[in-house]
Amino acid sequence: MESSVELRMGAAPGPRPRRFWLRTFGCQMNVHDSEKVESLLLHSGYTAARSPDEADLLIVNTCSIREKAEHRLYSDLGLLRSWKEGGPGRVLGVGGCVAQQEGDALLLRFPQVDFVFGTHNLRLVPALALAAGEGQRVARTEERRSLDRFELPIAPPELSRKNPGRAYLTVMEGCDMFCSFCIVPVTRGREISRPAEAILREAESLAQRGVRELILLGQTVNAYGRHALRRGNAEATGTLAFAELIRRLAKLPGISRIRYTSPHPLFFDDDLVAAHGDLAPLCPHVHLPVQSGSDAVLRAMRRRYGREQYLRLVTRLRGARPDLALTTDLIVGFPGETDRDFEDTLALVREVGFVDSYSFKYSPRPGTAAASLEASQAVPEPVKQARLEALQSQQKSLTLAAHRARVGTRTEILLEGESRRGGQLSGRDPYHRIVNLSARAPGSFPPGSLVPVEVVEATPHSLLAEPA
Ligand code: 5AD
Ligand code: SF4
Repeated sequence: MESSVELRMGAAPGPRPRRFWLRTFGCQMNVHDSEKVESLLLHSGYTAARSPDEADLLIVNTCSIREKAEHRLYSDLGLLRSWKEGGPGRVLGVGGCVAQQEGDALLLRFPQVDFVFGTHNLRLVPALALAAGEGQRVARTEERRSLDRFELPIAPPELSRKNPGRAYLTVMEGCDMFCSFCIVPVTRGREISRPAEAILREAESLAQRGVRELILLGQTVNAYGRHALRRGNAEATGTLAFAELIRRLAKLPGISRIRYTSPHPLFFDDDLVAAHGDLAPLCPHVHLPVQSGSDAVLRAMRRRYGREQYLRLVTRLRGARPDLALTTDLIVGFPGETDRDFEDTLALVREVGFVDSYSFKYSPRPGTAAASLEASQAVPEPVKQARLEALQSQQKSLTLAAHRARVGTRTEILLEGESRRGGQLSGRDPYHRIVNLSARAPGSFPPGSLVPVEVVEATPHSLLAEPA
């Protein structure tokens, strides 16, 4: 089904601009990939549809981190058969991690899918959509070492208006860690770091458009530049040490906040730790996935650190920045996890005092080292479920306590728009907490502005504040 046809770039043909709709699953990298696809389509003459019904081109950007996400796609594709039949010339594309893994197989299994693009081939989307309009069904999932995947045309203004104060900025992609549970090294390929100059240039142009907060992205973001540093060819590749990259970004006029996600605990050198103490724009929040509090489980997960080493890192980071807020990812029910192992996880979460955490039931992913353990050492589903609930209920009290401790303090929020339930302005503080402005706030703060506030109330999921 792979076609050798030349894929032409260019505007979508037709009597009126063709309209696209994007549906995105998964992590922040996927969200940002969708932004990149959106930008490419806008540059190719497409406009954004207001609903799938209005769209001529529908793209699903998929996630395969857990089985549930993958199943979601398959049921979605079932539903999209009627979308596809709902109008002549409708084109359906599938990208992201499932697309990367399945490639051609998706075209074979789902006749309603017109084209498939992998995680290294976003650039091809407009051409694939064009070819699909001419009746060609193509899957392009080749892994590319080329740096050109980072250098896409700058986002047009239609795109940047959505969340004007904040922007994702890719610094590296891929993962070479091969944790035994994780499919990412397969779906995202090898680690590749973007030259610092290109990152700084993009950051500058974002700042000029009013972006105040940069979120540096990478599958293991603080592994940025590590291979080049080790091989002594940092200069040739144009990369820097990660902390040095942050130091340069922090000097850019207009950039008030810098975050990075997700780091691996292994790659915190002294300079990165120190940066949290001496760089004002570097936010006092780190999302630091720990996965488990048990040494035996961490070893089986191939995380390459132990419980004590993780706790030492937390101490180092808080030594540099005492008010640092930490959040984390946790997996329960990894094959062989005992009650005792799980108790160690509960205890570690209390000891660190995470402000928030994302916990997941272990989900075996075909093609990963741990998947074969599930046959002999699986933790029964009801046990997984009970552990998940215990972890989440403990977290709920920790989060609420952390929020309550903030009442009466001052902070600054970067406004995003209306709160989820509407009616209130909402944004994030430097600790990455959602803060809603109370109804008494004047309605004169535009999205993207930084507003000094005083926290007046704590809820389990957010803080309520008044302009200070
Ligand atoms: N099962 C459950 N959770 C997983 N994660 C990654 N792979 C799996 C899996 N196979 C979780 C990890 C990771 C987060 C993004 O998803 O906690 O940090
Ligand atoms: Fe997956 Fe581990 Fe790589 Fe994170 S570091 S993306 S958990 S393999």
